[in-house]
Amino acid sequence: MGIFPSTRMRRLRQNDWTRRLVRDESLTVNDLIWSVVVSDTASPVEPIAAMPGVERLSLDALAEAAKEAQELGIPAMAIFPHIDPKLKNDGGTEAFNRDGLVPQAIRVIKDAAPDVGVICDVALDPFTTHGHDGVMDGERIVNDDTVACLVEQALIQAEAGCDVVAPSDMMDGRVGAIRDALEAGGFQNTMILSYAAKYASAFYGPYREAIGSAAALKGDKKTYQMDPANRDEALREVELDIAEGADMVMVKPGMPYLDIVRSLSDNFAVPIVAFQVSGEYAMIEAAAANGWIDGDRAMLESLTCFKRAGASGIITYYARRAARLLAE
Ligand code: PBG
Repeated sequence: MGIFPSTRMRRLRQNDWTRRLVRDESLTVNDLIWSVVVSDTASPVEPIAAMPGVERLSLDALAEAAKEAQELGIPAMAIFPHIDPKLKNDGGTEAFNRDGLVPQAIRVIKDAAPDVGVICDVALDPFTTHGHDGVMDGERIVNDDTVACLVEQALIQAEAGCDVVAPSDMMDGRVGAIRDALEAGGFQNTMILSYAAKYASAFYGPYREAIGSAAALKGDKKTYQMDPANRDEALREVELDIAEGADMVMVKPGMPYLDIVRSLSDNFAVPIVAFQVSGEYAMIEAAAANGWIDGDRAMLESLTCFKRAGASGIITYYARRAARLLAE
């Protein structure tokens, strides 16, 4: 290997054309999954204080958004529901309503934008009064009873036309149970994107406001979501979920966990999706609003870094804005 001055690393950086030529990664619209919050009370949209620029969408507003996603070429939308508090209970039973907000939202997107893939979160937290992802027995989140609920929820989503069910609850054994039920129910082509390496993170704060579970949530999610200090456990989680029938696996949050994305992409031949979560969005927006960073540049840089880390896809609240910029 040559050393200075025969080697000058800056030679290849001097022109736009050389930089483009030697570039490893390019972010394209094909990498983006647009996370949207849909609400049965928004009319037509409702702001979310902690996520400036993101709104809770009514079903009509969702149809418009889906059309724009299709025009921009965004491959898929991920739906997160804000449920009327009156419909919540301890068991989260509104999740099993065939005509509930999520099945309706799936149909709205499919009608408005048939080329856009629909991804749905499988977990009970938007529907429970306690804000946890599963059913509780006293202080405990009961694993196997929750898995039975998740299976029912996933089947209802598949029936409504959801392309990808995405269990985000971190119960053990749920991917296998959902896969078996989908096969038995005639949904052989429904994909599972498993939130395999999902950490108990402070970066979900704004999301819990967005879906209205923040005030309700008692305690934390540390008995089911992963410890942010752990690395190898993510490999085990992914190995299990692939064995149970996951088609794609997720790392969540995104930016602080790019080492996990890289390690999974080095170790597994399965598409990795990274989730740039609400708190990451909020941080970039807050700094940009203060004039402390250039928001658009920081956004595109952050999304490119997901690619560099090895992600095949990125779930982001920025998908529409990024797609518009990339189209220019
Ligand atoms: C819960 C769920 C969460 C998110 C997606 N699904 C939050 C949590 O686990 O408490 C977070 C999304 C975000 O922060 O953008 N099933």
